[in-house]
Parts: sequence; C-alpha cells; structure tokens
Amino acid sequence: MLVLGVETSCDETGVAVYDSERGLLAHNLYSQVKLHAEYGGVVPELASRDHVRKILPMLEQVLDSANVTTADLDGIAYTAGPGLMGALMVGGAAATALGYTLNIPVLGVHHMEGHLLAPMLEDNPPAFPFVALLVSGGHTQLVSVTAIGDYELLGESIDDAAGEAFDKTAKLLDLDYPGGPRLAAMADRGDIDRFSFPRPMTDRPGLEFSFSGLKTFTRNLIEKNRGDDVLPNEQTMLDICAGFQEAVVDTLVIKCRRAMQQTGMKRLVIAGGVSANRRLREKLEVALAKERAEVFYARHEFCTDNGAMIAYAGCQRLLAGEKNELVIAATPRWPLDKLTGLQEAV
Ligand code: KG4
Ligand code: ZN
Repeated sequence: MLVLGVETSCDETGVAVYDSERGLLAHNLYSQVKLHAEYGGVVPELASRDHVRKILPMLEQVLDSANVTTADLDGIAYTAGPGLMGALMVGGAAATALGYTLNIPVLGVHHMEGHLLAPMLEDNPPAFPFVALLVSGGHTQLVSVTAIGDYELLGESIDDAAGEAFDKTAKLLDLDYPGGPRLAAMADRGDIDRFSFPRPMTDRPGLEFSFSGLKTFTRNLIEKNRGDDVLPNEQTMLDICAGFQEAVVDTLVIKCRRAMQQTGMKRLVIAGGVSANRRLREKLEVALAKERAEVFYARHEFCTDNGAMIAYAGCQRLLAGEKNELVIAATPRWPLDKLTGLQEAV
C-alpha cells in the first residue's frame, strides 16, 4: 500500500511517501524556526499561514522524489492532533481534498502515535511489547505498548514536558529559539558536577514526572552566579546547561528503569524531540544494558516532527481498513490512550 503522509501540527511542514512493501520512498521537511525566532516561540497564526504556503509545493516535490504520481497512491494520512488547531486544519484540508478527488481513503493520525512508531522505520525495529518514553515539547509520558493502538499510560508529567523544560530553561539563559537543542549542545561542553540540580520526584515511588521546579532552580542559580552582567560568565553558563541536562536525563533514566521493572519488559522505545538528546541515549543505553534490556530510537531527523512517521502510522491503520468520513478531523487535545487497537477498528 502506497501512502502519503502529511504533518502540520505545529511549526514543521512534513510530507512523506511510504510503501508497505518497499518502505520509505521519499520525505521532506520544512522547519519554520526562522519565522518564529524573533517571537521566542511559535506564533499559531503565522504557523498556519506558512503551512498554507508550503504544503502543495512540498507534496509535488515529495511525489516527484518518490517517482510516483497521485494516481499511484492508495491512501493518505495526516496528523489530526494533538496540535495547533489552525495548523492541523491546513494538513487536514489538503489531505482530505486530495483524497476526495482521487477517491482513496484518508485517515487522521495521532501525532504521538506517529512519534511512538517512528523507530519502526529503522533497520532494527523494536518488536512488541515495549515501554515507550514519549518526550517532546508537549508530552512526557511512559506508555506500555503491546500492539499498535494498545497503549496504557503508566505515568506522565504533572507540569512541564521535558522538551518544554529544556526550552524554558534555555530562554532563562537567553539562548535563541528553539532553545532545547542549543542548551543540549552547550551542556556537552560544561561540567556536570559543578552544580547539583535536584532529580525531581525520584525519591518517591511512581512514574510521574515534574520538571517545572528545575526552571526555578536555574533562575536562582543564574541570580547567584551573575557578576556585573545580567548573565553568568560563559563557563558558568556551560556548567549550568550541563547540570540541568544531567538532571533531566537522570530523572528520565530512573523512571524508565522503574517502568521496565514494573512491566517486566525488556525493550524501551524513546521517541519525540528530546529522544534526539545524545546524553539521554547514552545514559539509557548504559543503564539498560545492565538489565539486559535494549533501547530503540529513530534516526535524528525522525525524532522531531516529520511526515515519515505519519505516513508509517497511517499506513498501518489504513491497511487495517480504517478511514475517515469526508470531514477534516482536527483534535487539538487528544489523549493517546483513547486510541483503539487495529482489530477493534475494523
Ligand atoms: O517532537 P517535537 O519536534 O515536537 C513536539 O511534538 O513537541 O519536539 C520538540 C521538542 C522541543 O521542546 C525541543 O527543545 C526538544 O524537543 N529537543 C531537544 C533536543 N532536540 C529537540 N531537547 C533536548 N535535547 C535535544 N537534542
Ligand atoms: Zn512532535
């Protein structure tokens, strides 16, 4: 089955063509980072308008690269949520209109299911069941995954998501948007032992996370360590980044190990933007190897938002016979565990 995937839930336009027999044929991603940089965060209306500008040329370009035409498509998948309403509507409208004219099934896909299944696009995909750590700008969740659509939430953040904590802390340090990856790059040059950040909620049982306190901790640290300037000197900045990253990573590692012990599972999938974090991958690999467990993640470009993960997730559901009626499905808030398994849907 040849499926076109469209992702427009936030500030990235992603388009891909996936074939159930031949794998991923082509994909393209356009990031709006520069557009939103001067505002220090995503401006929803600007995001929607830019998706409108990019979506059709990108569709044509990706079909060309895949060496297929619209007539070859068997189905279309798009991100139906969670995300920004206006942004979702752009991808949903394009996908639905195209599907209608071609008379092929169209399906709205859950963005986090896309992230969760992105490692399936790699050469060594994880087998079911596994524990998934979903760590993005909007989510920090531990999920038990027994099959596609069979998701049980084990725990989640009670306040900021891990990516959000990276971004907000980066803002305190006056780093340019998007701050998360910049903070991570600085952290790699800093001393992890100079400042000891707390590891929130690790001293009590359970799989909940809380990251908002780390922001306050950083704010106080900046205040204490600044000289005549508003910000501390460069080395201190690097050391703050290193201490912060280490605290987030350690917290995630502790909770992942706990989730694996609790479920008895031996495979962990990490997905979402923060799963691109080098230190997180490294520390999880070391920690899980001790327990003869394995970590799986997508290639770097498929950790953050992309069309390939939507094409893949959509293809699995379209193959099972799922499709939407002629309606643009856009659901800004959509809990992952509301999804159904494949068999239940047909
Ligand atoms: O999955 P994603 O692209 O979008 C959402 O669905 O939210 O994730 C974006 C998030 C941002 O918060 C960004 O700062 C974070 O992922 N991120 C990182 C890294 N790369 C992206 N956080 C830490 N280290 C990184 N290397
Ligand atoms: Zn995402």
